[in-house]
Formats: sequence, C-alpha cells, structure tokens
Amino acid sequence: MQEKIIVTGGCGYIGSHTVITLINHNYEVVILDDLSNSNVQILDRIEKITGVRPHFEQVDLKSSEATQAVFKTHKDAKAVIHFAAHKAVAESIQNPLMYYQNNLFSLINTLKAQQDNGINHLIFSSSATVYGNPSTMPITEDAPTQRSFSPYGNTKKIAEEILEDFTNSQSEISVISLRYFNPIGAHESGQIGEFPTGIPNNLMPYITQTAAGVREKLMVFGNDYPTKDGTPIRDYIHVVDLADAHLKALQRLLDPSSTQPLEVFNLGTGKGYSVLEMIKAFEAVSGSPLNYEITERRPGDVPEMFASTALAKQVLNWEATRGLQEMIQSSWTWEQNLRNEL
Ligand code: WQD
Repeated sequence: MQEKIIVTGGCGYIGSHTVITLINHNYEVVILDDLSNSNVQILDRIEKITGVRPHFEQVDLKSSEATQAVFKTHKDAKAVIHFAAHKAVAESIQNPLMYYQNNLFSLINTLKAQQDNGINHLIFSSSATVYGNPSTMPITEDAPTQRSFSPYGNTKKIAEEILEDFTNSQSEISVISLRYFNPIGAHESGQIGEFPTGIPNNLMPYITQTAAGVREKLMVFGNDYPTKDGTPIRDYIHVVDLADAHLKALQRLLDPSSTQPLEVFNLGTGKGYSVLEMIKAFEAVSGSPLNYEITERRPGDVPEMFASTALAKQVLNWEATRGLQEMIQSSWTWEQNLRNEL
C-alpha cells in the first residue's frame, strides 16, 4: 500500500523537485497549490520524468474552509510537507501584510486541518534567515534566532514559534522544520527548475538570466564586507539534495520509534562561497565572461552564512552530495532550455 503525502506548494521550485523524489520512492503524492507563483504545466513535466501524474488540487490555503474541505478529502494522508509560501524578500518589505497573511494563515489552517483530520506529521520549509546575522560559523541549530530584516524572513521565524507552541500543547502532531540555506540548481533532466516571476531577487537566477541576455548585467551588491574578497559568503545547496533531505525527514517522521514532537535541521553543504567566487565558477561552466558591476550594498545582507551539517548527518543520515560545479551547470542548462522554449 502506497503512503499518501500531501505536498502544499508542490508546483513550486523546491516542491516540484521533492514531489519527483517522493514519487521515485513510491509515495502517492497529492499536490495542493494556488498557482500564484507557479504553473500547472509542471504536472506534465513531473509525469514525463517519473511516469506518474500526481493528484492535484488548486486551493487557497489562506481560506480555512477550503483547507478543511481538501484535507477532509485526503484524510487518509500520512503526512504533510508544507512548502506553500510567498518568498520574495523585496516584495515582502513593500507589502508586509500580504506576507504575514499568506505565510502564517496557510500554516495555521494547515495545522488545524491536520488536527481535525488526524494527519499527524508535518515537514515545514524554514530558512537560514531565522538566524539573522549570526556571530559564529558554521551555524548550528542551537544558535539563537533573530528578528529578520524582512517580513518574509520574519514569517519563517514566527512560523517556527507557532510550531513550537503547537507541538508543546500535547498535540498529536510531530513536526520537522528544515532550515534551507541557499537553494540553487535544477533537475538533471533539464525539464524543471527555478522560474522566478519578474526580476530575480536571488543571485543564481540573476546570473543565468544575465548570461542568457535577459538582463544586461549583474549588480554585485557591495565588495567591502569583512570576507576574503569583500563580497558576502553563502552556503549554496543543490535543490535535488534538498529534495533528498525531505525524503529522509519524512522517513524519520513516519518511523514509529521516533517520538520527538519538534525537530529542527539545517540543510546546507557546510561550504561557503563568495559572490565573486560564484561568478568565476559560473564563467568556468558557461565558458564566457559574465557582465557585472560592483554597486552599493543591499540593505539587510549579512557578510557570511554557512551551515553546520552535523546534526542532519547524524539524525537524518543525510548530507549534500552535489558540488558547486554540478549546481551551476544544472542551473545553466535549465536556463538555456527555458529560453529555447519561451
Ligand atoms: C546571495 C548573495 C547578495 C543578487 C535570500 C533570502 C533567504 C532565502 C534565499 C528564499 C548576497 C548577492 C544577489 C544580485 C548580488 N530565501 N547578490 N546581486 O540574500 O542569502 O537569501 O534568498 O526564499 O531567506 O534572504 O540570497 O541569492 O538573494 O543573495 O550581489 O543581483 O548574492 O548580496 O550576498 P540571500 P540571494
């Protein structure tokens, strides 16, 4: 008997890669997505890659009625993986209420619908942004969380606090919260990847769009940080490694011998690369120089972030296996495929 897993936001970037991993491991997947930042055609691609078309329901999880109704239909599900959220930092500063409303209502409605329908396991998409500007590297999970610079980041911090209160309340539901560092890369098929709407906020899609001629040049936001070359250091992680970590977290939650109500894990590689190192690595992969210019710092950026990976390795038996070259190559292949299609 296949175990049914509800994946909210399963049409999005990390969600769609995770759906593929779940299907490949014989889970039955139900995707819930409002398609606000994704396209339903992703289902065709998932089917092409895996041979299985996941069940799909278009639903707005901000509505408690709609959430209750869809969870009732799928009350035989064993667990929920909750990716659905808005994630654009700059947009969240412009429109904080939209972010608090969407990211927090959807989580609360999901938890309530799980409780009412006896679906007792949840994996939550959190972010390294909950660490703010950490004082020691690598960052371990017990480092203090800080109020985020952006409303987006703050929704992740508040969501973790909600999960802490909820799992302390003797609820039946057990939760794993996964703190992603900087996800990049795309599926090896070249069929799915990140597709940001409008001007990308994040470094990797900005680099690939610049190389593809969609953007004129990359702005490097500051080179006067206290790092080796003055540009900020981040822990970039392949999205397929992230998807594998969700599988491991799910297996742990569904294992009757694991009894922790709430666990938190970093998902990173433990290695940090500067913005200039990323540009050089991209140029090596693409074989062409990238047009870029050093500009002012971007408000809210911190000098350095990279994960301690020890806890995920020890408890989830997971570690990232894909290196920087593979991450960048897959991002670039995906961008080129996308441009050929558009
Ligand atoms: C990386 C580095 C920039 C764009 C954010 C969110 C986090 C997570 C991932 C997602 C920084 C520099 C970037 C550009 C640049 N959220 N940069 N020019 O800021 O580490 O994390 O995205 O949903 O919560 O905060 O990632 O990719 O934006 O930036 O110089 O055009 O690249 O200054 O040093 P960040 P990023």
